[in-house]
Amino acid sequence: MADRKLRIGIIGTGGIARSHLNAYLNQPDVEIVAGADIVPGKAAAFFAGTVGAGAWGAEKSLSENKALEGVRSYDDHVAMLEAEELDAVSVCTYNTAHAECSINALNRGLHVLLEKPMCVTTEEAVAICKAEKASGKVLSIGFQPRFDENMKMIKKIVDSGALGRVYYIQTGGGRRRGIPGSTFIEKSTGGIGALGDIGCYSLDMVLNAIGYPKPLTVSGYISDFFGKNPKYYAEHARFSVDDFGAAFVRLEGGVILDFRISWAIHADTPGDTILFGTDGALRIPSTDCWNGSVGGPMTLYHDIAGKQTETTIPLQKNDKNKGDLWNQKIRSFLNACINNTESPVPSSQILINQAIIDGIMKSAQAGKEIAVEIPEI
Ligand SMILES: NC(=O)c1ccc[n+]([C@@H]2O[C@H](COP(=O)([O-])OP(=O)(O)OC[C@H]3O[C@@H](n4cnc5c(N)ncnc54)[C@H](O)[C@@H]3O)[C@@H](O)[C@H]2O)c1
Repeated sequence: MADRKLRIGIIGTGGIARSHLNAYLNQPDVEIVAGADIVPGKAAAFFAGTVGAGAWGAEKSLSENKALEGVRSYDDHVAMLEAEELDAVSVCTYNTAHAECSINALNRGLHVLLEKPMCVTTEEAVAICKAEKASGKVLSIGFQPRFDENMKMIKKIVDSGALGRVYYIQTGGGRRRGIPGSTFIEKSTGGIGALGDIGCYSLDMVLNAIGYPKPLTVSGYISDFFGKNPKYYAEHARFSVDDFGAAFVRLEGGVILDFRISWAIHADTPGDTILFGTDGALRIPSTDCWNGSVGGPMTLYHDIAGKQTETTIPLQKNDKNKGDLWNQKIRSFLNACINNTESPVPSSQILINQAIIDGIMKSAQAGKEIAVEIPEI
């Protein structure tokens, strides 16, 4: 592949596809060949630069909408996969179409960059992982906050041993009022609400830091008191997912995960992220980690020479030479495709993220704690 440009297709040309497209256009070694969207004419309009900005990721890209010449458009992603000689696709559909589109692309021998959350259920995630394994291709999941230096610092602190053995984690976060609209709020398209939209990031922030232990049991809760209420949400009639979720999760290795996430609550935040270890603790101020940032300087609590000490971890600056987080997300995926190296955000980890989210949904439905089993891939 080194002697020619990588041929890229985009499946789902809504809001976030524009961020993918813009980041691909910054890379010298790719060619955008085609795109598909089930809304007739939408992919063509996307490449003509006339639509594409959705609820999120739109502000930055609107001014950058450009017409792209010679890109072919399809109303059916399977037709695109059959007609085009592609190397890789970005799957940017709403959540309920993630599994079908990425499995079809992997089955045709393409590398896949799949937007977060990985999908909706554990069963879908397992099917995606199996298709990936059979294909031998790269599958990376779209968690761009992974490339933020502050996120990396959380993992470095855990890996340094400063916390000792981590045994309890509180994570989550969210908004006082911030229910998105569009395809995020219906079961048929979003599949899951706040849990999948922003909860997956909060889980990734801490689980990546401690090496993604598997969940054993989940006691989960979800509610929709804001999304369904006309007093708080204009599109209440369409709302059919969760706007708040909480869970108590037992992880392998004796780690407890206490999690809460909100699109809407009557408070500024459901809390900071805290990791308790046998030798220290780390407090990460309530964070919009989905935007690739922590909420402020972190605090490391530890004993030095017998004295209880608090060390402030200053905010880390990102290296401008690497480009923004989107640039790094796309570049790291392309590098893995070209060099046949490990996926930057591997499905083996995000399968666990998905199993926790799915466990919360299933436990909430059952009204009791459930055991979580993740099949071998
Ligand atoms: N990484 C991030 O920062 C970030 C930010 C926003 C959204 N996202 C994720 O990106 C995904 C899309 O979000 P969005 O805001 O662009 O949504 P969107 O609704 O604007 O766009 C999704 C598009 O996919 C199309 N689509 C659905 N099923 C399809 C199929 N089978 N084949 C082809 N096209 C299909 C829809 O018609 C729509 O145009 C979601 O999973 C979301 O969680 C990620």
